[in-house]
Amino acid sequence: MRDQNLWYKNAIIYQIYPRSFYDSNGDGYGDFNGIIQKLDYLTTLGVDCIWLMPMYKSPLKDDGYDISDFCSVYEPFGTVEDLRRLFAEVHQRGMRVITDLVLNHCSDQHFWFQEARKDRNSKYRDYFVWNDTDKKFPETRIIFVDSQESNWTWDAVAGQYYWHRFYPSQPDLNYDNPEVREAMKNVMRYWLDMGIDGFRADAVPYLFEREGTINENLPETHAYLKELRKMMDTEYPGTVMLCEANQWPEDVREYFGDGDEFQLGFHFPLMPRIFMSIGKQDAGSLVKIMQATPEIPENCQWCTFLRNHDELTLEMVTEEDRQWMWNFYAPDPAMRMNLGIRRRLYPLLENDRAKIGLAYSLMFTIPGSPVLYYGDEIGMGDDITQFDRNGVRTPMQWDDSQNGGFSDADTTYLPVITDSVYGYRHVNVQKQEKDGASNLNWLRNLIRIRKSSPALGYGGISWITTGDRVPVLVYKRATADDCVIVFHNLTGDPQEISVDLTQGSYQDLIVPSIRYEGGAGKTVKLAPRQFLWLRKE
Ligand code: GLC
Repeated sequence: MRDQNLWYKNAIIYQIYPRSFYDSNGDGYGDFNGIIQKLDYLTTLGVDCIWLMPMYKSPLKDDGYDISDFCSVYEPFGTVEDLRRLFAEVHQRGMRVITDLVLNHCSDQHFWFQEARKDRNSKYRDYFVWNDTDKKFPETRIIFVDSQESNWTWDAVAGQYYWHRFYPSQPDLNYDNPEVREAMKNVMRYWLDMGIDGFRADAVPYLFEREGTINENLPETHAYLKELRKMMDTEYPGTVMLCEANQWPEDVREYFGDGDEFQLGFHFPLMPRIFMSIGKQDAGSLVKIMQATPEIPENCQWCTFLRNHDELTLEMVTEEDRQWMWNFYAPDPAMRMNLGIRRRLYPLLENDRAKIGLAYSLMFTIPGSPVLYYGDEIGMGDDITQFDRNGVRTPMQWDDSQNGGFSDADTTYLPVITDSVYGYRHVNVQKQEKDGASNLNWLRNLIRIRKSSPALGYGGISWITTGDRVPVLVYKRATADDCVIVFHNLTGDPQEISVDLTQGSYQDLIVPSIRYEGGAGKTVKLAPRQFLWLRKE
């Protein structure tokens, strides 16, 4: 038996936006009770852990990532009691649940900020970062480049500028203040006491500021994060933290520490290279970034993902590749946002099962716990006419009734997708449940197969095909007693590739009736855009 405490090393994580999932009381907003009603759906998909996006009290200027009270919930979602019940129901089904932990900032509506701006002598003044000019920290980049010109905003009430890495409605907290550091630990304790299994920690590179630096990934930030981990290990053993640091692999590596900081970290640079590999029919840059990815401690794991609630970020690619990605995947300027692309998985890959198959197969076979974004399992579309990133946050499509079965209300928080390809009449859970070949059942099957192989979950990776051009990508995943050779034909043509396979027989995990014999210089034939997982018997 593997150590149960290492469950996160091989988990299927499913990201839920509470507002979008299921509305149980007909007010047009998804809610906690709605999620409870749909938990069995998630168990049949093979989900091990739910990542619940912000459900805290918030004016929703950044969809809940602007928190006005860290220890209460956004009312339309339900009560803290409902949430407690949701956690219990998740656990009853053998799943786990992590919630977003937004450390870097709060809402400008938060009591701390309201007090701070009113009175220079208030103890809360020092909870935030103030300055008399907007010239301090000139080396710091702007993240929301489409809408922000500065990380400083003048506050007339305060008579000073305050620091914010995101929207002006999200003032950064001052982590040099020990009270802030302690207050946020107590926020964590509050939720951990309620029985959650950990956090997806939002925007962690930006906690501390130091003059003359870019204010990202500072040693002080790592030291504080280690303190949080220590607190969790001591007071809540077995709970985990997942790191959102949109950084290069060597910088994300630091967030794992010596196995004493984060257990999990998103692999941001890999994600756009999955799309590049499929679009360019060449995995050269994917192999390169993976080879440049340092080893991580034994008790840690990457998280792989294809899409999430944000734009498909192109921060971790070269300028040339960014232009290529925009031209290829976001030809309409309305599809572009900040340094990214605000579209969902299926429309990005033209609703083409072969391309989507490559994407999922890459995500499932490159080391990491895969994180799925709600709706992508059925192939939901997007609505680029919506503000900001809302076009990828539309209501979940359950059936072909009004509002896609999401809600009985006359109007929902965002309109449900109705277009002729991705609209709820065509793309919905109920319809796909009945169809063995549907997107949903296809993915369920793929998840089941992935779970059947310890090598795909826990194994190391060795690259068999490398170089500048990799139209057919081959690698090996192996643990001591399991071995899978993974093939991806990224091209639209049939391919043959010659590989050395250790003697013995191999089973095709996707089509189990097919077997291959090992040996030196074996020719493996691949159909256009086929992926093949061969398990040594
Ligand atoms: C993270 C979230 C994003 C949010 C930002 C500020 O990047 O994923 O949605 O806007 O942090 O909290």
